[in-house]
Amino acid sequence: MSEVVTYNREGAIGVITVNYPPVNALGHAVRSGLVAALEQGQHDADAKALLLVCEGRTFIAGADIREFGKPMQEPGLTSVIDQYENSDKPIVAAIHGTALGGGLETALGCHYRVALSSAKVGLPEVKLGLLPGAGGTQRLPRLTGARKALEMITSGEFVSARDALALGIVDAVEDGSDIKAVGLAYAQKVADEGKPVRRVRDLTDKVEADKGSEVFDQFRAGLEKKARGLFSPFKCVDAVQAAFNLPFDEGMKRERELFMECMDSPHRGGLIHSFFAEREVSKVKGLSKDTPVRDVNSVGIIGAGTMGGGIAMNFANVGIPVTIVEVKQEALDKGLGIIRKNYENSASKGRITQQQVEERMALISGSLTYDAFRDVDLVIEAVFENMAIKKEIFGKLDEVCKPGAILASNTSTLDIDEIASATKRPEDVVGMHFFSPANVMKLLENVRGSKTSDEVKATVMAVAKKIKKVGVLVGNCHGFVGNRMLHKRGAEAMALVNEGASPQQVDKVLTDLGYPMGQFAMSDLAGIDVGYRIREERRNAGEDVAPSWMDKLVEMNRLGQKTQAGVYKYEEGSRKPIPDPDVDQLIAEFRKEQGITPREISDQEILERCMYVMINEGAKILEEGIADRSLDIDVVWIYGYGFPAYRGGPMFWADQVGLDTILSTVKNFHDTLGGQQWKPAALLEKLVSEGRKFGDL
Ligand code: 3HC
Repeated sequence: MSEVVTYNREGAIGVITVNYPPVNALGHAVRSGLVAALEQGQHDADAKALLLVCEGRTFIAGADIREFGKPMQEPGLTSVIDQYENSDKPIVAAIHGTALGGGLETALGCHYRVALSSAKVGLPEVKLGLLPGAGGTQRLPRLTGARKALEMITSGEFVSARDALALGIVDAVEDGSDIKAVGLAYAQKVADEGKPVRRVRDLTDKVEADKGSEVFDQFRAGLEKKARGLFSPFKCVDAVQAAFNLPFDEGMKRERELFMECMDSPHRGGLIHSFFAEREVSKVKGLSKDTPVRDVNSVGIIGAGTMGGGIAMNFANVGIPVTIVEVKQEALDKGLGIIRKNYENSASKGRITQQQVEERMALISGSLTYDAFRDVDLVIEAVFENMAIKKEIFGKLDEVCKPGAILASNTSTLDIDEIASATKRPEDVVGMHFFSPANVMKLLENVRGSKTSDEVKATVMAVAKKIKKVGVLVGNCHGFVGNRMLHKRGAEAMALVNEGASPQQVDKVLTDLGYPMGQFAMSDLAGIDVGYRIREERRNAGEDVAPSWMDKLVEMNRLGQKTQAGVYKYEEGSRKPIPDPDVDQLIAEFRKEQGITPREISDQEILERCMYVMINEGAKILEEGIADRSLDIDVVWIYGYGFPAYRGGPMFWADQVGLDTILSTVKNFHDTLGGQQWKPAALLEKLVSEGRKFGDL
């Protein structure tokens, strides 16, 4: 008998229990255990009905993703589910936690489903570049009809137990926490009432009702916008449609063919890498589960600007009180007003209730004095990028804050050690770099200074989780991981335009790769005056900073989206960048002034220069230990800059392109274009010479 799936009888009920931590995924041992336990149940003459239930935190959370790409060991999941569905004895699936993917498909193969009210169900395969491949696309629509099945399968979103009941996915929902007791009671009822074996495959009414419906084409059209560049969402629609056009067994065959197409698509590899990378980043080198974590029950924020306000919302959203300190009452009132407006906006869209707006606002208070920080557990400074001001602030915090309070800076580039040197407690100082808009973007780039204590590192990683961000711990250098690579890409994009490309050509290459926006559209969003101010500061400090056509735009008050004109122009109320012939003219004049004869630049050159310069820098970042693993860089880019998750992050992408190809191109650019940025990273050379990849590190 399998150790992970057991069979025993309780009264008239044969109980099949899965116990395969952490999430009861359907690995080979579980699949074969399920078959063996079912056979026992079938042969147990005293079992009038069977119950499938799981130990631990959840019902089966899906196929075992770690087995993908390896040779399949029999029995396959489809065959396991068929055997359950074909059972002569009624089988009840009792669901707690989450029944996901192959887990929900297994439950759909059972004849009845009962769930705890706290449970959720879903078919999230699409998020891994797949489609439900064990009957989910054929059975779910037989219960819910086409529209809801398409919604669930193409979005991968979970539905609550109560919604699942209303949709017919489960047959009963019970409050409480003892899933086994709930399952046994339901199975007993099935046995007592002599309820029949009810096979979802045989249900026909929903299929008949939605046959020939326009909903499939509507979904395809919607996905053209929502799922641009993706592969599997469209295959999901094809598979669900097969449930309406074909008999069950043929529909299953079609589902399998489409599932295999998704398995073979490059998106699957990228999305599965992203799934594991997102979980892996929380396991930080040098920290363990035993590293102490400080309580963070109150937070102070310095600066009520866009960043400060956004950061405050993250904490209020999870019930942690926040005090924002500003220099002037007017700025404070303005900042608090914007936070309220953001919440009201969410309420008007039905995302939160008006009561939640008030509850969250009640957690956010303002003050004009640092005394308000006396008792807080964490302070996050979010003022503009100026070292002198930041040091002054940290000096004051050191005087005011209680011992053990964590002092964090939201700096996006500056030296954390220098900031920490303004205090007598550098071990409590850390970077917490949020991404704009801070209440939306999922990345929190936590930056360790050379003296930051392990306890503080572990705490800021725990804080990320608490506020529902993906935290990545990185080392201290100018721009850390994300902006250091971005700055290299930005400089290369500028150089490409100087040499003859148009901003829109550069941006198109990047959006074609899957970025939500290109380099220049992003500059317009952030405001191109930001870079201008930095360049001016450097010029004033005597540095030799090359002139830029962007400086001219700023001097014309074309600051980006906020002035409806920057590199692009914008229509009132729209964020859609429109290429502007005036800017093309300005760039042409700039080239003339600089004595540059423009040349045709191919899209391939743009792709290589914008991406390989980042990869080369990423390799240097790894070499220096600023990032511990290439997956840390991947997660920073996916969650901080919208790098397409289906490409797995820039370093994973580089591994697919081939590091030898990248290295030889980098060397070529070094020879032809020159510049430190093209000096091949020693790590890149080493990996190529050893025939290894970033993912092997
Ligand atoms: N296979 C293998 N490992 C899995 C897994 C799976 N399906 N789901 C989760 N895990 C692992 C995680 O990697 C993690 O491992 P770690 O502790 O070593 O890092 C551990 O289980 C716990 O996962 P989380 O940290 O994500 O725990 P949470 O409690 O936050 O979330 C969850 C639990 C909601 C189940 C979440 O893990 C999840 O969404 N999992 C993926 C579910 C999924 O996509 N299922 C479909 C799989 S594809 C499929 O079924 C194909 C079929 O149609 C043929």
